[in-house]
Amino acid sequence: MYAIFRLEPWVSGALPSLHAEADEEKLLSESRISITVNDRPVQVANGTNVAVAVLMSGDSCRVSVEGEARAPLCGMGICMECRVTIDGVSQQRSCQLLCAPGMHVVTG
Ligand code: FES
Repeated sequence: MYAIFRLEPWVSGALPSLHAEADEEKLLSESRISITVNDRPVQVANGTNVAVAVLMSGDSCRVSVEGEARAPLCGMGICMECRVTIDGVSQQRSCQLLCAPGMHVVTG
């Protein structure tokens, strides 16, 4: 005697795929973009804002008039501590902008 099982779509979708690891790597590589921060390449996930990319690079966003390194403070576009130059346009609030492929960010 044989038992015949039919998996409902929601059950079969929950089962691990034999290709799950390869699919995950493909998704991750497709979702990453490359920008430069002070002429150094930085790889970030698609949807990352520029302030995070600058922090990932290890650089500060700018230097105060007294020579102190400054970094994002409010993260919502008010404090202006995260200003950088993006693709030649100065005084951009990096916390308010998403990274785009090939973007050139200059801090300081
Ligand atoms: S972190 Fe305050 S304006 Fe960007």
